[in-house]
Amino acid sequence: METPKHIVGVQHGWNLMSANYQFESDISVDEVHYAPLSYGENSLNLLGDVTGKHFVELGSGGSQNAIALAKLGAKVTAVDFSSSQLAFGVSESVKQKATIDFLQADIQNLSYFQDNTFDSVISIFALEFIEYLDVFLSECNRVLKEGGQLILSTTHPLGAFEWDADTNTLNVTDYFNPPVEIWKENGQRYSGVTYFRTVEELFTNVTDSGFKVEVLLEPKPLGFDNEHLSPYKGDYWTEFRDRINLVPFAIVIKALKQ
Ligand SMILES: C[S@@+](CC[C@H](N)C(=O)[O-])C[C@H]1O[C@@H](n2cnc3c(N)ncnc32)[C@H](O)[C@@H]1O
Repeated sequence: METPKHIVGVQHGWNLMSANYQFESDISVDEVHYAPLSYGENSLNLLGDVTGKHFVELGSGGSQNAIALAKLGAKVTAVDFSSSQLAFGVSESVKQKATIDFLQADIQNLSYFQDNTFDSVISIFALEFIEYLDVFLSECNRVLKEGGQLILSTTHPLGAFEWDADTNTLNVTDYFNPPVEIWKENGQRYSGVTYFRTVEELFTNVTDSGFKVEVLLEPKPLGFDNEHLSPYKGDYWTEFRDRINLVPFAIVIKALKQ
């Protein structure tokens, strides 16, 4: 089956964005991040002891989280379909002496993994590019072992709305029907799409896919004076600082396979 044009758009878009995004970002390879300029795993304690656990990171990007997990003693597989993002991750993992199984593949369907393979599925800021949430989540459930954990962070539904930088206010037009964002980088042939889901839609899709939600967070910003302590920062986020300090940027869910 031919890959839909908007999926090719996301893949090509990330290939084009990767170098600049990684250059302007400062992402820790020692602490798992969940949201920019916000607390990471050392404060949120979502993962428990990762030693010897088999993780898969879906939409691993520059693989900083995969590397942090491997350095903490987890066995890690990292999957992304952007060759540029993967190449960055491979090179960082070599620098960090972290052993990771890298796979270039589409994460919308995980047919390349067997049932009951992983102790933990982690996917940070990739869900917003996935069109069929129910298919993705049931695939996450299938590849997890019984009782395995699903850790998701995705763009908060309020991220769909325009920020007025002059008045520091968010223009929420219709929360119940957040618009999709159609985007294109310079030189990109097909547009990519970013989907925003309401909190209820996310929660319901996770539970309907055979998970019990243990934790739901809108990670708090560390604030202007302390943002250097975040595992996810850098110049890339400067233009979003005011907004991030007033409106949640991410929604994080920890759920267990039933
Ligand atoms: C915002 S980056 C997040 C990277 C990483 N998880 C992090 O937190 O730093 C999103 C990544 O998801 C990947 N991605 C998006 N849709 C995907 C898909 N359908 N299959 C595989 N990778 C995908 C992109 O290529 C990109 O590297």
